[in-house]
Amino acid sequence: FGRKCDSPLQRTPNKQEVKVKKYLKPFLLSQEKLQEISARLKKNMIQGLGKHTHHKAPVKMLPTFVRATPDGTEKGDFLALDLGGTNFRVLYVRVMEEEQKVLKMDSQICAIPQDIMRGTGEQLFDHIAACLADFLDSQNLKGQTLPLGFTFSFPCEQIEIDKSILIHWTKGFSCSEVEGKDVVKLLRDAIHRRADYDIGSVAMVNDTVGTMMSCGYKDQSCEIGMIIGTGTNACYMEEMKNVKRVEGEDGRMCINTEWGGFGDDGSLEDIQTQFDVVVDKTSINPGIHIFEKMISGMYLGEIVRLLLVKLTEDKLLFKGKTSEALLTPGRFETRFISEIEEQDRGLKNCQNILTELGLKWDSVDVRLVRLVCDTVSIRSAHLCAAALATIVNRIRENRGLDYLKTTVGVDGTVYRKHPNFSDKLQAMVHRLAPNCSITFLVSEDGSGKGAAMVTAVAQRQALSHLLEDSDSDRKEDEEEDK
Ligand code: BGC
Repeated sequence: FGRKCDSPLQRTPNKQEVKVKKYLKPFLLSQEKLQEISARLKKNMIQGLGKHTHHKAPVKMLPTFVRATPDGTEKGDFLALDLGGTNFRVLYVRVMEEEQKVLKMDSQICAIPQDIMRGTGEQLFDHIAACLADFLDSQNLKGQTLPLGFTFSFPCEQIEIDKSILIHWTKGFSCSEVEGKDVVKLLRDAIHRRADYDIGSVAMVNDTVGTMMSCGYKDQSCEIGMIIGTGTNACYMEEMKNVKRVEGEDGRMCINTEWGGFGDDGSLEDIQTQFDVVVDKTSINPGIHIFEKMISGMYLGEIVRLLLVKLTEDKLLFKGKTSEALLTPGRFETRFISEIEEQDRGLKNCQNILTELGLKWDSVDVRLVRLVCDTVSIRSAHLCAAALATIVNRIRENRGLDYLKTTVGVDGTVYRKHPNFSDKLQAMVHRLAPNCSITFLVSEDGSGKGAAMVTAVAQRQALSHLLEDSDSDRKEDEEEDK
């Protein structure tokens, strides 16, 4: 049970606690089980990459058309849009070659109200275009047509860097008329409907890719991007010869794994608890992103709430007396877990939260609630560790190395804000991938700045192709002249 000397339960174990631990047992995954899960994910990843197996693969392994990480020569001014986390953001970003820095010049957060998250696609993109217009006005940028990096953090089949089809919504979005459509076109159409400004070339990226790229400017061995926030996912640089759905054998391409979809074919039923099943069934997208629903910020609070409801029903908490708030879906927020698990203030925070939820607690209740939070967050960290270990082990094997040193760019509220999530995750990855040494780089504004980075790398590559082409044209002309 994670905590050692500081566990309050080790001081006064009693019958009630022993019984509660029985309910928590299905959440405890041994190292062997995690290894088995990692092996399953590996199979699923290979299935996702395959030309003939991809269509039924739960882990989509989407090509991103990002073929290079930054080399430090990128520069320029860019706009970035970031949709898919807790907030929608617009950024103005400057990439500075001399200092190898990505500077956020300014940014603005726009709320996306629930009715827009679940309205029509046109409403959503009109709202985005309006936020961008406001921002451009405030920066005096409306006359310019800056290139734009669009971080769109949902599973998309990328056709080209500026053409990307939404496969399905996740994380509480369900706008109509967007699934199956090119999201870049929907954005451009919305901007053209307004006709008061325009944008230059667009590069579409997933937030994992943005995170990898923004860290990649600082640390060129950063070849993995990972998000553990509202949702969860990772991307990494895969060998082109293994990316069967894209022509070409040379070099590497960044693959957006969409590991949140792991288990959508039922392959995680053995570790899904009754509480995970309810979280999935009552979500707006049942059956989709099963792995994500066991891990990410959108769902962790709800898993804890359902456990607390059950323990109260079975008279193991709060003397069997529940409250209206506890019975309300969504009322136990994921941030409560972080607050309750704080080292020094955790128990006090727990008391305040339980009081706010209208519950009558005693000191044993408080300690048990903390144990529940601990158990749910450790499972999340360990499942992420198993998935990350699968990726680093794969990169190492791909390159025929005995030992791999690599860097992961990470972002997301769960990873950043939870007091010991990152420690638990890192310790377990270390055990599951003993031949890899991994540096974790928390990315600052990663998905926004990273989108600008992708745009900058795409421009650098387009420029160098142009130069190569004109060089070979010149050579051909010279040959012909001879
Ligand atoms: C989406 C991914 C995204 C992740 C983290 C998931 O729900 O499918 O595309 O990277 O959330 O934001």
